[in-house]
Amino acid sequence: MRHLLTPLDLSVEELETLMDNAEKIKADPERYAHVCDGKIIATLFYEPSTRTRLSFEAAMLRLGGKTMGFATADSSSAAKGESVADTIRIISCFADIAAMRHPKEGSATVAAKHARIPVINAGDGGHQHPTQTLTDMMTIRALKGHFDGMTIGLCGDLKFGRTVHSLIRALLRYRDVRFMLISPDELKLPDYMIDEIKKSGAEFEELTKLEDAMPNLDILYMTRVQRERFFNEEDYVRLKDYYILDMPKMELARDDMIVLHPLPRVNEIAVEVDEDPRAKYFEQVQYGMYIRMALICMLLDIRI
Ligand code: NCD
Repeated sequence: MRHLLTPLDLSVEELETLMDNAEKIKADPERYAHVCDGKIIATLFYEPSTRTRLSFEAAMLRLGGKTMGFATADSSSAAKGESVADTIRIISCFADIAAMRHPKEGSATVAAKHARIPVINAGDGGHQHPTQTLTDMMTIRALKGHFDGMTIGLCGDLKFGRTVHSLIRALLRYRDVRFMLISPDELKLPDYMIDEIKKSGAEFEELTKLEDAMPNLDILYMTRVQRERFFNEEDYVRLKDYYILDMPKMELARDDMIVLHPLPRVNEIAVEVDEDPRAKYFEQVQYGMYIRMALICMLLDIRI
């Protein structure tokens, strides 16, 4: 049985196949409208979500399957003290596959250990978020055509931003990818991720000024400061508006640079940037559903 807990659970070949399949589904959704007839996905969300949970549910519904689950921890038996291990044992009796988001790092891994169905990590604390990465990778491939040789700026909360950690892991497997890690000192990329970059031999640079990175970038990946992971509100308030991407900063960038963001956006991208043709974060969202459709089929062993 397969799970998806980190992007490295998929080989580069499997990732490419997934993206190809997602493109096929996107081009002809009718053809795949019944491949999951009779299947059920459980969405177990112990943390808030709009896009991720609904795109999993939309993905299963559009494949002909059904959905069930909960959207907040307090509406599940977690509120009574039930463990993730027990919850997933129960869900394994009801559903064919589960997508789980949880505030604790490693919780999807614990769930997978006790599950009798495939478990997808839909975000575990400040750790990993592999299906956002699938969305990001598909967007980059669609808009840039390839990953080799890309210079990618990751900006904002690199400490707690799980989408950043997963995206770096996935990109490290391509050739000559260069990272510009733009963050305040307090929100730098964790050591374990820096070690992964160093081990791979990829080039990287840590900097605090977004303006310094702008002219060099093929891709700018903006992130929100992750308020829910801060120990105190004062630090959050001090750091939350550290970066605001606006038009004067966009003018420093190349014409073919693209701006991505996993969303939700708070203040880190001024709304005026939405009109710039290089702003691709809303386009990025639509890839999320198709790649999750392809992933559900892969993990359920449904050939498409
Ligand atoms: C991200 C997440 O949950 O980590 N959102 C998402 O899934 N698109 C990013 C965020 O919440 O900032």
